[in-house]
Amino acid sequence: MKIFIDTANITEIREAQSWGIIDGVTTNPSLVAKSGRSLESVIKEICTIVDGPISAEVVSVDAPGMVEEGEQLAAIHPNVVVKVPMIPAGLQATKILSGRGIPVNVTLIFSPAQALLAAKAGATYASPFVGRLDDIAEDGMGLIAQIVRIYKNYDFPTQVLVASVRTPIHFVRAAELGAHVATCPSSVLQQIMKHPLTDIGLERFLADYHKATQH
Ligand code: G3P
Repeated sequence: MKIFIDTANITEIREAQSWGIIDGVTTNPSLVAKSGRSLESVIKEICTIVDGPISAEVVSVDAPGMVEEGEQLAAIHPNVVVKVPMIPAGLQATKILSGRGIPVNVTLIFSPAQALLAAKAGATYASPFVGRLDDIAEDGMGLIAQIVRIYKNYDFPTQVLVASVRTPIHFVRAAELGAHVATCPSSVLQQIMKHPLTDIGLERFLADYHKATQH
């Protein structure tokens, strides 16, 4: 499973990149707004840090606007993936952009049928939001299982990009289910690296070593 970091915060991206486990980056308009920078400048900088797919989302809601914005974003760097919302105009834009060789990430997917349509339109990635489904007492990871099965049934090349990951359990279940990518906020990446028994074990090893080498 590929691991993307879900942020537009350069410090977080640099830190995660230094761990050697990051395959790509996803951003969205909320995350870019939080960075306080323009989409273009932040995406340009991210592309200098991570050599992998970098999702940049359009803000137009009509197909011609999405296509125009998508082309501008794709021109920033060959690693840019244009992110479009799962609405009819988004499907139309996906078909056009992917037909022009521009990779597209269809976002805000909340049902298996939406994921099937995104794949039919030629999306490189489909982004189901698991945390937001859990928020309304639905089964986010159940949706991932359905999409993985559907894509396998028909050999769709579209990759399942698990988004709105909030907990280590989302991450582990995504890998168990065979999702292609999990995009995680920095907080979840920090959580999955840690285990209390690792820390206790290391403390003991070092204490024993230092005690023995004091004689
Ligand atoms: O990748 C989409 C993600 O940023 C949404 O996460 O936690 O706002 O639902 P969240």
